[in-house]
Order: sequence, then C-alpha cells, then structure tokens
Amino acid sequence: MPSVPGSTRGAVITGWGTALPERVLTNDDLRDTGLDTSDEWIVERTGIRERHIIGFRGAPDVDGSTASLSIAAGRQAIEMAGLEPHQIDAIVLSTTTPDRAVPATSATVQQGLGLRCGAFDINAACSGFTYAMVVAHGLIAMGSERILVIGTDTLSRITDWQDRNTAVLFGDGSGAVVLEAVEGRGQLRGWDLDADGSAEEYLYCETGDVMKMEGKEVFRRAVRIMVDSAEKSMKAAGVTADDIKLVVPHQANARIIKAACDRLGIDMDRAAVVLDRTGNTSSASIPLALADALDAGRVSEGDLVLLVGFGAGMTAASTIIEWGGSS
Ligand code: COA
Repeated sequence: MPSVPGSTRGAVITGWGTALPERVLTNDDLRDTGLDTSDEWIVERTGIRERHIIGFRGAPDVDGSTASLSIAAGRQAIEMAGLEPHQIDAIVLSTTTPDRAVPATSATVQQGLGLRCGAFDINAACSGFTYAMVVAHGLIAMGSERILVIGTDTLSRITDWQDRNTAVLFGDGSGAVVLEAVEGRGQLRGWDLDADGSAEEYLYCETGDVMKMEGKEVFRRAVRIMVDSAEKSMKAAGVTADDIKLVVPHQANARIIKAACDRLGIDMDRAAVVLDRTGNTSSASIPLALADALDAGRVSEGDLVLLVGFGAGMTAASTIIEWGGSS
C-alpha cells in the first residue's frame, strides 16, 4: 500500500482520447445468431446493451486491430495535450490481446503515430490500464517528461461466440491519456497493485484459444479484490470514500460495480459507467469510462478520482488521482 513520497516528481493528465470499432453488436444481434440468450437476460444480469467489435465468428477483422485502435485513441490524446509526436518520451500500452507475439503492439503503435521513443506492452488483464498508469508515473518520477498511456483490447478475437456464458460480456475498444511531468507532487495520491495467481483457473485463455471463465467465482472474487485494492489506495492517500468525487471502476458487470460501490460506501451517481454501450473491453474499460466522465464535465480541479480495476490473474489495481495535481 505505497504512499507517494512528497518529494516525488509528479505528473498530470493533459489529454485523452478513445476509439471504438464501427461495428456494433447488440444483444438482439447475438440472439439472432442463434445464441440461446435474450436482451432482457443480458441487461438484467450484466447491464450490457451493446458492444463494438472488430471481428465476429471467424469473419475477417474488417474494422481494425489492437494497434489501429490504439493509434486512433493515442493520436487524439496527443492532439488534445497540444503536443507534437516527437515530444512523447514513451508509450506504455496495456493489452491482453496483442496483434502479434513479437514485436510488442506498442512498437506498431509508435510507428503509426510517428514517434521515436521507448515503447512497451503491459499485460495485467483488465487491471492493465491502472497498472500502466502507475508504471508511467514511476517513469516520470525518474525523469521522463511525457508518457502516452494506452489501454486497448480486441477481446472479440479470443471470445467463443457459441458460449453464452462469455459471448455476451466482451467488446473491443481503446482509451489513451497523456501524462506530463509537473513541478511538485502532481496528481497521484495513492496506489495499489495486486495479483493472486492461485485464482488464474477461473479466467484464462490458452494461446490461440478462446477465453474460459467460471463467472460466479470471478464475480465473487472481483467484488472483494476491488474493494480491498480501493481501500488500500485510499488509506495510502489518507482519504476516505466520502472524499472521492468520481469512481472509475472496471466495466465488467453493472452488478459487480454496484456491489463494490455499496461496500465502499460510494453511491452509484459517483460512478462512471459506459459498459451498457461497450461491454467489457478489458484494458480499455477504465480509460473509456474516464474519458466519458471527463467529456461530460464530471471532474473539476482538485476532485479526487478513484480508478479501480480487476481481471484475470486475478489481478487488481487502483489509484487515487487528484485532478489537476497539487504542489
Ligand atoms: N443468456 C441467458 N441465460 C444465461 C446466459 C445468457 N447469456 N448465461 C448464463 N445463463 C443462464 C445459466 O445457464 C443459468 O441457467 P440455469 O439456472 O438453468 O443453470 C442461469 O442463466 C444463471 O446463470 P449464472 O451463471 O448463475 O448467472 P449469473 O447471475 O452468475 O451471471 C455472469 C453470469 C457471467 C453474468 C456473472 O457471473 C458475471 O458477470 N461474472 C463475472 C464475469 C466477469 O466479470 N468476467 C470478466 C472479468 S475481467
């Protein structure tokens, strides 16, 4: 449960961007393919109404890749920050669905954005974007000036579209932020990274295969580890749930978000939720929900924002961010 030393060189978010494939798959579309499910069941049990996907049932990926979505989101974030590509010092890309085993997808993204800088991928499943944010703050503490942090997944490529237990849950997308060094402590007030490898059997995907999941067990553990991680970050930051203006949880299931928020004592109108439109986009889910809240003007200078994710591994990660930073 690390506290951020007061002497640390800090960072703030100065730009953000998002990308979703054009192809939309509604719950009714899934039922129409012969899957034994219904819009009513999916909405009631998950909160998901539709998702964006690049490919479906072995059809060619007509609408992008992990790299192309990352490039689109990353470009927006760099433009919003008012930067030229050469000013970026590193790309940290969180993905669990890289386009190839080697090289890292971040190398393709670097080339696509016209950057010349360090570039590497992180895989911490659906907690990955929050892991990447912590790593990027660490790079800035050690002297980097500007980092592009991206969370992208194309889970449609590793989804079994015949399995109603998983097919209704997942989607594709990308979200990116630019982190820039500032004088003083910056925005990161507390953070926590966790993993419990003993739970890996509940959600996994062998190389070249599709995801296998024990939904009930993942649900049960997800609520517990999200709450644990969020509490550790809040303790490290010296704040309580009452101080949190906005929680940006991993977008897996509306009932998981509600259960975690209830246990944390955070009412749902302080939660950022986009999963009704996106499904579970893994690494992209937190930056997509964060960008949505920022675009809607839900966060002001000085507000505390809790990012909290969980995923296969089972991993969990959280950060407390003070919007705009502090000296
Ligand atoms: N449509 C219709 N019925 C479905 C269905 C679907 N898509 N999926 C499952 N069912 C059925 C089950 O077969 C079961 O039927 P039965 O009672 O006749 O056996 C019934 O609905 C209840 O299934 P259950 O698994 O108990 O549902 P649930 O309330 O636990 O919801 C999940 C299932 C997967 C939505 C839920 O467990 C979940 O969200 N888990 C976490 C998954 C997750 O977040 N994964 C990603 C982590 S990053």
